Amino acid sequence: MNYSLFGKIVELIYGYKGGSYSADLVAQQLELGVREFVAEAKKIVDTLNARPAWEIQKAEYFGPAGEVTASMEKMREVPPELKKLFGLHLNHAKNQVAGIFGAANIRITDLEVSSQLGPVVDPTLPSPDCGPGTFHPLTLVREEMCRILRKAGFVVADGPEVETEYYCFDALNTPADHPARDAQDTFYFPEKTRFANVAKKIPEEKYLLRTHTSSVQIRTMLKGQPPIRIVSPGRVYRRDTSDATHSANFHQLECLYVDRNVTVRDLKALLDYIFASLLGKETKTRFRPHYFGYTEPSFEVDLSAQHLPKVKKDWIEIGGCGMVDPAVFEGVGYDPEVWTGYAFGMGLERLAMLVYGIDDIRYFYQNDVRFLKQFA
Ligand code: DAH
Repeated sequence: MNYSLFGKIVELIYGYKGGSYSADLVAQQLELGVREFVAEAKKIVDTLNARPAWEIQKAEYFGPAGEVTASMEKMREVPPELKKLFGLHLNHAKNQVAGIFGAANIRITDLEVSSQLGPVVDPTLPSPDCGPGTFHPLTLVREEMCRILRKAGFVVADGPEVETEYYCFDALNTPADHPARDAQDTFYFPEKTRFANVAKKIPEEKYLLRTHTSSVQIRTMLKGQPPIRIVSPGRVYRRDTSDATHSANFHQLECLYVDRNVTVRDLKALLDYIFASLLGKETKTRFRPHYFGYTEPSFEVDLSAQHLPKVKKDWIEIGGCGMVDPAVFEGVGYDPEVWTGYAFGMGLERLAMLVYGIDDIRYFYQNDVRFLKQFA
């Protein structure tokens, strides 16, 4: 700032007091002085386009030692007969300059907002990301499996991802000291946690994130009477460090069939049917004896699908299965002398990897459009 209003006021007060300036001359000079002061302020402030510079300038005018503040304080020394004149002009100067700063404030705020928003969006431009979205490969495989199973009379059943120890383990004949229940493998909730929409069977049992979809077997059986034919796909959780074949949450597909006179042959026939439907007629399955608490006998299921690209091994493990253990039936109130059944569970990621020749489980969760677009 070059022009000092304060300096002008001092000059006028002392010129008048010393007798060299008449009251008329003071009035005339004061008006000119204010006009010049305001014009200069406008010139300076109009060039500002960032907030820090605006703040600094504002302090030079309105801060404790600012030009306007100092000029107003000088009013004390103005002779009484000129007070009204000075008061009018100084107030005018103050309001004008405040108005100039106010306008600049609005202009700078607009600049700030538009720099945050980035360049103007033109909604009429063609989208760089062509075409509509696609289904996720896991969704595609899940839906295909449900479609195949629906043809064999299965209906889709759902269960909660937050489970209790009873549904996830106890009712599935898995004793308290079974390694699957270890806190190393399973995500338990702190004891005080409450979920209003997941009822506990036993008051003192803990909540956890289900480690498999087998808990839906129990929820379904407790709800009704046989015959039962359900398929239940869904997300499951385990304490696993993620790598090409492991993920702390993944997806399974569970099936349960309860009726009279169900045998292992029915189980094998259904598995042959679903894998042939999904992967082609050349697909073979084989059973290897295994142990699961909820089935007796129990097997692990292997697939041979060498006609598929990228499948290098002869046999690939795909899931577990078996004939429902009588103890499980007893627990849900079904008479094991009357009812028989089979159950199986498998990993959906593994199936999708086979179907599409995907070699790393982590691709499923990265939401990279370049990956997802390949399954359109
Ligand atoms: N729940 C087992 C798992 O997560 C898979 C499984 C095995 C499911 C046997 C079953 C079954 O229904 O009968 O590894």
